[in-house]
Amino acid sequence: MKRVIIVGTQWGDEGKGKIIDLLSSVADLIVRSQGGNNAGHTVVVEGSIHKFHLIPSGILYPKTLCLITGGTVIDPFALIEEIENCTTSLISRLKISKYAHLIFPFHKEEDLQFEAIKGDKKVGTTGKGIGPCYADRALRLSLRMGDLYPFDRFREKFKNLVKLKNGWLKKPVQQSDLDSLLAKYEQVAKKLEPFVADAEELLHEAIERGEKILFEGAHGSLLDLTYGTYPFVTSSSTLAAGVCAAAAVGPTLIDAVLGVTKAYTTRVGSGPFPTELDFEERALFPGAKEALEIGTTTGRERRFGWLDLPLLRFTARANGLTHLAITKLDILDNLKEIKVCTGYELDGAVLKTPPASAEDLERVKPVYKTFEGWNEPTCKITSFEKLPARAKEYLAFIAQECGVPIEIISVGPGREQSFFVSEFGRLWGLQGC
Ligand code: IMP
Repeated sequence: MKRVIIVGTQWGDEGKGKIIDLLSSVADLIVRSQGGNNAGHTVVVEGSIHKFHLIPSGILYPKTLCLITGGTVIDPFALIEEIENCTTSLISRLKISKYAHLIFPFHKEEDLQFEAIKGDKKVGTTGKGIGPCYADRALRLSLRMGDLYPFDRFREKFKNLVKLKNGWLKKPVQQSDLDSLLAKYEQVAKKLEPFVADAEELLHEAIERGEKILFEGAHGSLLDLTYGTYPFVTSSSTLAAGVCAAAAVGPTLIDAVLGVTKAYTTRVGSGPFPTELDFEERALFPGAKEALEIGTTTGRERRFGWLDLPLLRFTARANGLTHLAITKLDILDNLKEIKVCTGYELDGAVLKTPPASAEDLERVKPVYKTFEGWNEPTCKITSFEKLPARAKEYLAFIAQECGVPIEIISVGPGREQSFFVSEFGRLWGLQGC
């Protein structure tokens, strides 16, 4: 097994960062190919918390090369801040594509403006300018990382772009601000220059050498621009095939697609959430801080719900999942009863997969199967065999219902609090699996 894509199967925040970190120790290359600094990964190593937005979390391993490819959108100021926050020099280990599009300050303004116009129908975006930047890319207006060099050329291109955008921006960029803005871009362009490279070329060469490559999907499948809970989605394709396209890698080159799923469900931002807990049910779960359910990017508390199999069935198929990783099983440890949504009732019919429209998804009535809780701590468990019988029963049901084997189980935030169920670890080349 040489090339693996990792995707979230829910609305993001499934714990992909931790699973990527687990597999990164033997990876030669980690690739981040879509989205921008709207994503957030938290990795806990020996009690220290590391937060990432654009830089792949695999950077924590000293020998891994990390690539940010052309399907991403990059706020250069946010990226340089993330780079400077790293404790070691990344110059030789982080390379950024010339194809990636640049997020400008007016994209962030437009993001907030659209949210304000939408009022109570707002998406609940991260406010990082992601949607407007991808929109400008689709309109063929935008500028890319590679356009920053040589800077004199960028200066002209940026002035032209500002002229165009000023035609409809509510708060146009003032001529008097242009020079200081360009001076800031010149500075950031200089700082980023050592990182900007032919990232796709490096990736293709690594594939030819047979290196081990992890593709880290950002956000979650239900935030996919086409097949997520539209319009409450992000603006990139978050599915496995989208990850490939955004890295300039053909799907035939991928050996496995690992879907990361929480043992329950969370979501940040607005949008339908059929299995969302009511007030009393929510009180049975640990608080957001204790469960580490505060968004890495925006600091918002995540909404909680039971595991939703109609959604998981859909994302398993849409991604072509070959394996599942279940995270945060320990959060369910103290529950007397655990519910799983097995289908939806809608207008007298029972659905096994979600309806296309967000309004209909808002109207569905979940059909639940209830499991008895296991009521014992799982956070120190190191193998599937040692899990409580009721936890095994719960997990077996999930695997059977979505037709994908569970290969990794995580029972806490620490690197050591996870284990492989079958042969995935060995096939990936991890020692002792
Ligand atoms: P945007 O990506 O900032 O445009 O936000 C669109 C929606 O996606 C909002 O509901 C965000 O909260 C959500 N979102 C974007 N990125 C992530 C993520 O990495 N995890 C969870 N939610 C996200």
